[in-house]
Amino acid sequence: VKGLVDAKVTQVPRIFHIPQDSSTDKKPSVSVSDLEIPTIDFASVHVDTSSREAIVEKVRYAAENWGFFQVINHGIPLNVLKEIEDGGRRFHEEEPEVKKRYFSRDFSKNKFVFNSNFDLYSASPSVNWRDAFSCYMAPDPPSPEDLPMACRDAMIEYSKHVMTLGGLLFELLSEALGLKPEILKNMDCLKTMLMICNYYPPCPQPDLTLGISKHSDNSFLTLLLQDDIGGLQILHQDSWVDVSPLPGALVINIGDFLQLITNDKFVSVEHRALANKEGTRISIASFFSSSALPNSTVYGPITELLSDENPPKYRDMTLTEYTDGYFAKGLDGTSHLSNFR
Ligand code: SIN
Ligand code: FE2
Repeated sequence: VKGLVDAKVTQVPRIFHIPQDSSTDKKPSVSVSDLEIPTIDFASVHVDTSSREAIVEKVRYAAENWGFFQVINHGIPLNVLKEIEDGGRRFHEEEPEVKKRYFSRDFSKNKFVFNSNFDLYSASPSVNWRDAFSCYMAPDPPSPEDLPMACRDAMIEYSKHVMTLGGLLFELLSEALGLKPEILKNMDCLKTMLMICNYYPPCPQPDLTLGISKHSDNSFLTLLLQDDIGGLQILHQDSWVDVSPLPGALVINIGDFLQLITNDKFVSVEHRALANKEGTRISIASFFSSSALPNSTVYGPITELLSDENPPKYRDMTLTEYTDGYFAKGLDGTSHLSNFR
């Protein structure tokens, strides 16, 4: 997509157009200033039991009612956030020859992959105004030589912090379910981490297309770092609500797998990113999921959460089965979770 912008296209090619029949995408956005996803301050999470309980309660509320929240004082230093943002931008702004070396649509190996629209050859009806690179950073981190110079150090450093914060988040989420802190980690929710750096170039006709189409995430949990441009929206009570950039904060959202294993207690909420005319937007998403890596572990609703009044709403599945269907479908606007009910 950056190539089109560099070539100074003034009209968005048809393949990028939002389909005519996409009723949700055509819905006007409400940017009601008093409707905001919760912001949770983690500063006192390790201070004492009552501070931690207060945070767990906020996490529970957000996970049940919004599926999204922002975290401040999360422990990742500001310079680490700045370096991954700068490094991601540097790679996307390399000469095409450099990016070409990494171009691939094969996510199955533990390697650095650059492309535009992972779902180009899927069932999705249109493509997005977005380029992206991705790499599995856990469980087997790539060797440094396999990462481009532009973002190598930043990716390695940022991913270490993401793993630590991810561990804390899964503990708090377990506690928010009324379970032992280790339960989600013991289910390997923290094991696999895919980092994706999105690059949304300025768009000459932003109303005709999207930065990323409506979808919910194929993950247990996603940590998102966004720059100050804005454009991320979530579908909350049938309206598109802006997730306004908050300097230094990370956006956390529940993914489909966590909705499934919590039997709908936590919700995986649909979201999208608008295209914009003015600037280049960068976001870095860290997905705790196993996406394209084979995973034959069977997952279903957690037994401790079930009762006669709360019978399982989903059948058992493997992450591979889920993900194969998710990729085949692409970002076509429909929920994949409902196929497992
Ligand atoms: C995503 O949903 O994967 C990306 C969202 C964003 O860039 O804000
Ligand atoms: Fe997403």
